[in-house]
Amino acid sequence: MLAVTYDDVVRFIQAYADVIAEQKDHLTQLDSAIGDADHGINMNRGMKAVLAKLNGHASGDIGATLKTVGMTLVSTVGGAGGPLYGTLFLQLGAATSGKSELEPADWEAALAAAVDGVIARGKAELQDKTMADALVPGRDAYRAALEDGASFAEALRRSAAAAEEGMKATIPLVARKGRASYLGERSAGHQDPGATSSWLLLKTVADTWAGD
Ligand SMILES: Nc1ncnc2c1ncn2[C@@H]1O[C@H](COP(=O)(O)OP(=O)(O)OP(=O)(O)O)[C@@H](O)[C@H]1O
Ligand SMILES: [Mg+2]
Repeated sequence: MLAVTYDDVVRFIQAYADVIAEQKDHLTQLDSAIGDADHGINMNRGMKAVLAKLNGHASGDIGATLKTVGMTLVSTVGGAGGPLYGTLFLQLGAATSGKSELEPADWEAALAAAVDGVIARGKAELQDKTMADALVPGRDAYRAALEDGASFAEALRRSAAAAEEGMKATIPLVARKGRASYLGERSAGHQDPGATSSWLLLKTVADTWAGD
């Protein structure tokens, strides 16, 4: 695999919607421990709306399609997750505007823009117990893998593995951003729901584009 096509990007979006639907209750359960028990419901509503929006609208432009995903999430997810996931996909789209194929360096640039966008919007720092704790290691591991000479597929797998580590590392953290921060020390001992859905995103990218 040297590049991903427009169809591969659409398959990723569909697969992420399926994964979110499967994990809806788990994400909501994680959010019930340190939030308001809606993260899975919010994300599933958004990704269902994305599928409805994309159905029959194959533009061939990867950037345009990813921007449509972002705009749909902004208008349907609500809460903290809507603007954050909306920004993530809008930035993926802006970075891939007009492209019908993505090479490894294109995904590096897109992922960097997406993570910068999430951080600019949410002002989270590492270890604040947020989405950033999965996304930043995922981005960094991807870049490091390419620098090491890893294949596209291997770099995607290392990105997902690093995001998983980052997600697990949120368990002992005390939340410093979002609704979970209202709990103070009581937020420790629970895995962050947004870091979990962010790991699922990078895992779905790897599973769809690089095989299992
Ligand atoms: N400032 C932030 N930066 C990055 N991620 C954040 C930030 N605030 C919250 N999050 C992420 O959002 C997740 C919660 O998303 P969810 O969809 O449940 O929204 P919410 O917190 O219920 O929103 P609201 O409080 O507006 O109802 C958290 O687990 C965390 O990962
Ligand atoms: Mg919530």
